[in-house]
Amino acid sequence: MSDALLEARGLEIRFGGVVAADDVNLRIEEGRNLAIIGPNGAGKTTFLNICTGWIKPTRGTVLFRGKDVTRLAPRDIVRRGVARAFQIPQLFTEHTAMENMLIAASARTGRQSPLLDMHDMPEREEMARLLEMVGCDRVADRPVVELSEGQRKLIDIAVALALKPALLLMDEPTSGVASSEKFEIMEILVKALGRADVTAVFVEHDMGIVENYADEVAVWNAGAVQMRGTPQEILKHPDVIRDVIGEEIA
Ligand SMILES: Nc1ncnc2c1ncn2[C@@H]1O[C@H](COP(=O)(O)OP(=O)(O)OP(=O)(O)O)[C@@H](O)[C@H]1O
Ligand SMILES: [Mg+2]
Repeated sequence: MSDALLEARGLEIRFGGVVAADDVNLRIEEGRNLAIIGPNGAGKTTFLNICTGWIKPTRGTVLFRGKDVTRLAPRDIVRRGVARAFQIPQLFTEHTAMENMLIAASARTGRQSPLLDMHDMPEREEMARLLEMVGCDRVADRPVVELSEGQRKLIDIAVALALKPALLLMDEPTSGVASSEKFEIMEILVKALGRADVTAVFVEHDMGIVENYADEVAVWNAGAVQMRGTPQEILKHPDVIRDVIGEEIA
């Protein structure tokens, strides 16, 4: 078996009486985009929080490129190559798209500079290329607050790419976007991640998106991985249709 990019072994965490992770085991292979599906409260976001260091499991281990990162601080996990995008983009909305990119670049290099000098940063061209990769170069100098939710999502991904990750974990990347725009956004996003050699993991409730953009699917249920396979195998499985797809349609 090839080496996993990220591997979760026996993760456990409870919140009061709720078991949010109950012996979670999962291998994420490099270059295989993985969708995480499952009913509300199944523990999908909790899994992303554990992988990025925001929640420490009471048991179990997260290995990234074979190294134990379970107890590292979130920013040290980011430095190793695991980035995170949120349901609501975490951008400085009064600043322009380019300024947001430059802030991310300075976080990466550790150089702190007041915004005035920031525009002369050597990373500027690289950041312009990333904005171009997500189709937002035309709005680089517009304040983020003036842009559409879809554009904000894409800029949030470009910001994550500025950290040069190998793995990007996304919690419902197309939520809050009109359904007519969802596919277009996923198309741009998946292409950009492929070009940047970044493996994507995304939590998704829209099975059309899963079918089109995931190489693998993991089904979460009651804090555990219930099933794992290709979209073709998983989306037609009777248990998934009953427990997950039925719920999404209802
Ligand atoms: N920090 C927390 N404190 C207390 N309970 C929590 C915390 N985080 C998660 N939970 C609980 O753990 C369970 C799993 O939550 P989680 O957010 O991981 O589910 P999810 O699969 O992401 O659901 P959704 O599809 O609604 O986003 C839920 O019952 C939730 O209420
Ligand atoms: Mg969630």
